[in-house]
Amino acid sequence: MQQTNSKKGGTTRWSNRFAYILAATGAAVGLGNIWKFPYITGENGGGAFVLVYLICILLIGIPVMMAEVAIGKYGRRTPGKSTSEVAKASGKPAFWGFVGWMGVISGYLILSFYVVITGWGLAYIFKAGAGDFGNGDPAAVQALFKGLTSNGWALLGWTSLVVLGTVLVIGKGVKAGLERAVSTLMPILFLLLLVLAGYAASEGDFAAALHFMFDPDFSKLTINGVVVALGHSFFTLSLASGIMIMYGAYLPEGVSIAKSSLWIAFFDTLVALIAGMAIYPIVFAHHLAPGAGPGLIFQTLPIAFGQMPGGRLVGVLFFIMLVFAAFTSALALIESSVAWLVEKRGFSRWGAAITAGLGIWLLSLGTIASVAELPIAQFAGTDFFSALDYLTANILLPIGGLAIAVFTGWVANKSLIADMIDAPAVFKSWYPVIKFLAPVAILLVFLQLVGIINL
Ligand code: PFF
Ligand code: NA
Repeated sequence: MQQTNSKKGGTTRWSNRFAYILAATGAAVGLGNIWKFPYITGENGGGAFVLVYLICILLIGIPVMMAEVAIGKYGRRTPGKSTSEVAKASGKPAFWGFVGWMGVISGYLILSFYVVITGWGLAYIFKAGAGDFGNGDPAAVQALFKGLTSNGWALLGWTSLVVLGTVLVIGKGVKAGLERAVSTLMPILFLLLLVLAGYAASEGDFAAALHFMFDPDFSKLTINGVVVALGHSFFTLSLASGIMIMYGAYLPEGVSIAKSSLWIAFFDTLVALIAGMAIYPIVFAHHLAPGAGPGLIFQTLPIAFGQMPGGRLVGVLFFIMLVFAAFTSALALIESSVAWLVEKRGFSRWGAAITAGLGIWLLSLGTIASVAELPIAQFAGTDFFSALDYLTANILLPIGGLAIAVFTGWVANKSLIADMIDAPAVFKSWYPVIKFLAPVAILLVFLQLVGIINL
């Protein structure tokens, strides 16, 4: 990651394909896997939702990721610029760059609630260390979470720390230290998740969890569940946020776009599924509600930490890893706005980082007010945070993905894209997917959602 923005466009490259896969996996694996996937699976009835999610990753997410990387690899610039370069080279107007810029806006909005949830994780490092989970009594653990979320000032404090950390690292330029930290912390996070899943399997209700997650009951699947699964497949792979175009711009020659995309998606999916297997056995053993919402992991894992031997240390480690995973994704989320302020508005790197950070901090107040249930953030039967989450993940990201698919399949020159994918056999099966299948699938889901069609 140290090469990010050391030069503007042009010649900067990841050192090798491992560095690229690591960086992209670092951006992909985050709160989406450990915090969001388990709770939306719970809210949408389990197995059937998981199946639709996996299908979305495979048939839409991976192909769209390949398209984004291909666009970046051709343009070798920031997302908007790369997209307009591809358009111009294909004899199309440069305004097609909006496809890249849309992602920058979506990423910025996502970041404004991402920092709040990362703040919860930060708070929980200290709660775990102080022994606040006690002996893991479910009621006490729930009360602890309520205590944090109902305290607007505490939320503001933790969120501010996260924003500050993001600004400090991104302002300096992302240094080699971060890449090294990620490459050690991600495997540890993965191991810890496995340990937790093992613990949950032996102490919790593993059979009920398996049944819930992998035994599809289609009567529980709603059209809204399909939209959430589709949106989450984009969110979790960091698609339609500009970032994969940006990372593709640094792709060294000779790296297979198809193979590397498969690896990134595989790691991301594995972490999400294991997170589910660490949480659901505890949920069912303690008769908690799978549909508890965004607080789910904060109300379940501490039960395990409180009850297991050495749980205090494991808890501290777990939340450190969670914050790191979230932090690397937050850096990816802010990077494109910062790069844009530098490139287009002539900001210094620090000026851009502080400006973008201040904007995020202000926007985060809406989410904080929602979480603390202040009346100002409640409207029309929902709240600012829920509305923002729905707008970004379920509307902006799928529309952004649709725009990328349409751009790649219908606007960009076919042989230009074939050159970027650089594997004729792969291209032959991928191209119809990006040209027809992905856009049609996304459109069908939306038409069904707004009630124009009824499948
Ligand atoms: N993929 C991240 C997650 O699953 O938590 C979220 C994310 C990061 C989305 C970076 C978009 C992005 F550009
Ligand atoms: Na993810």
